[in-house]
Amino acid sequence: MPTPQETARLEQIKKSWQQKRQITDRLGKIKTKIGVYSGKGGVGKTTVAVNLAVTLAKQGNSVGLLDVDIDCPNVAKVMGITEKPDYVDGQIIPAEKWGVKVVSMSFFQENQDEAIIWRGPMIHNAITQFLQATDWDELDYLVVDLPPGTSDSPLTVMQNLPMDGFLVVSTPQDLANLDAKRCINMIRKLNLNVLGVVENYTGEIFGHGGGKNLAEEVEAPFLGEIALRSAYRDSSKPTSLLDDSVGEEFDAVAKALKKSLKEFGSEAA
Ligand SMILES: Nc1ncnc2c1ncn2[C@@H]1O[C@H](COP(=O)(O)OP(=O)(O)OP(=O)(O)O)[C@@H](O)[C@H]1O
Ligand SMILES: [Mg+2]
Repeated sequence: MPTPQETARLEQIKKSWQQKRQITDRLGKIKTKIGVYSGKGGVGKTTVAVNLAVTLAKQGNSVGLLDVDIDCPNVAKVMGITEKPDYVDGQIIPAEKWGVKVVSMSFFQENQDEAIIWRGPMIHNAITQFLQATDWDELDYLVVDLPPGTSDSPLTVMQNLPMDGFLVVSTPQDLANLDAKRCINMIRKLNLNVLGVVENYTGEIFGHGGGKNLAEEVEAPFLGEIALRSAYRDSSKPTSLLDDSVGEEFDAVAKALKKSLKEFGSEAA
């Protein structure tokens, strides 16, 4: 006879296994899942995730964008989404804008300034519920915008979502790249793929080359440079749809990413 503790433990293992299977089933019709990640905050993950998603959609792919930054969910704001997603039979139907299906934690906040202060297990539960409840239908790509660092929410995504790999955003400066190296180590420790490095904020002010050096050092593909530009101040649309030069930069990143996905054996549309 198992002890009550053993029974409880077994129940817990069963539940987490069922949860994982449900998530895998849910995401079964998504061909390619890419996380956008960095070691340091504010390097441009959300900017890269949003513009990459709209670029892939513009190229004719079906694309989803999932914001798992529980503390500061910014994707809906950058995408200009004001309406809430639909619920049908307990399922979340993603909002849609610029050809991209979007789900963000901010949809469940009462107002935009509300702070979400949650601890590890709650973050884990919120993300797994999101993943279990969202009906993405068929997608060529799901882009996941992650919060920075090695905290609970990137860890939950890495352990529960069958990801094809991660795109790491870094800056031209060496200090940020130290943090980037730490996050690359975390991805690899979990036996996941680093699809490549993108350097953001390239230009006269911060210089350039740090991202490429980092990519060489960690033996990951370099996916391109995104220049620091005033065009990002216009928030009426994702900047790659407003400014041709930014559009070209993201076209190049998308092309390099597809090449990398193929090299890692993933299906790239
Ligand atoms: N290449 C760029 N040129 C000019 N401004 C930029 C550029 N990239 C990002 N920004 C701006 O920098 C700010 C921070 O970017 P963003 O929110 O994408 O960073 P993040 O890494 O997602 O931050 P967090 O770690 O808080 O999630 C935003 O206001 C964004 O518009
Ligand atoms: Mg962000």
